Amino acid sequence: MNSPTESSETALIRARHAVRTDHLLGIDQVLLHSDPPDVQHPEVEIIRQAAPTSSPDREAVNRAEPVITPPDGDTPEERLESLRRQHDAGCPHCTTATGHQNTVFGEGSATADLMFIGEAPGAEEDQTGRPFVGPAGKKLEEMILAMGFKRHDVYIANVLKSRPPKNRTPLEHEIEACSPYLAEQVRIIKPRVIVTLGGPASKLLLESPKGITHLRGIWGAYQAGDETYPVMPTFHPAYLLRNYTQETRSQVWNDLQAAMARLD
Ligand code: URA
Repeated sequence: MNSPTESSETALIRARHAVRTDHLLGIDQVLLHSDPPDVQHPEVEIIRQAAPTSSPDREAVNRAEPVITPPDGDTPEERLESLRRQHDAGCPHCTTATGHQNTVFGEGSATADLMFIGEAPGAEEDQTGRPFVGPAGKKLEEMILAMGFKRHDVYIANVLKSRPPKNRTPLEHEIEACSPYLAEQVRIIKPRVIVTLGGPASKLLLESPKGITHLRGIWGAYQAGDETYPVMPTFHPAYLLRNYTQETRSQVWNDLQAAMARLD
């Protein structure tokens, strides 16, 4: 129901989004009933594991600062490719970590208005070198479609570009070493809105110690270079799959609607 003060433009956006909400919830229902995530996708479960406070690989880590030179190229596509090569050759984390097969740089439109940032590659992402292609990725794709975009319209990246051992949460020193490449990606793409998926991405971009349940749904800002980017934090799709309630689904949908309204 529209509030008495709502403009006709806002009412129109609301009506359009209501249709998409039904669409999203409809898809979710099908997925829920045909494919219980906890049973068939154990890797979705693993994301629950907390980062250990100490770890054997902590000592072995390369604590060098990443050296990023201005990426070459006339177009954002060329500059992203130049950055990808720099990352793969020199990321202090990804070049010394041993638990992964492929780095997962990110993919999508180099001029995307909307950018999604997740945590780190999982098993399927590690195998394919592509972000969000596993069960959480399928859910993210549904979210993107429900927002009225195609996957190739947006850009999808992660805080960490290589899979942590046993899918554990990224450690602080890993994020410090790898995330400057993410900042450079953002500077090249210049998205109008960033949606962070889950705790690690939201905490990093918003420089906040708060958990995702406190951060989600509230606009924040990410400073990358001289530019500031609006950030809408929301739950990670893997969390959504594990906690598949009407409440979490509508919380995520509200967050996505806020992002859409800002883009509109
Ligand atoms: N979870 C993430 O955070 N990123 C991926 O690419 C896949 C799963």
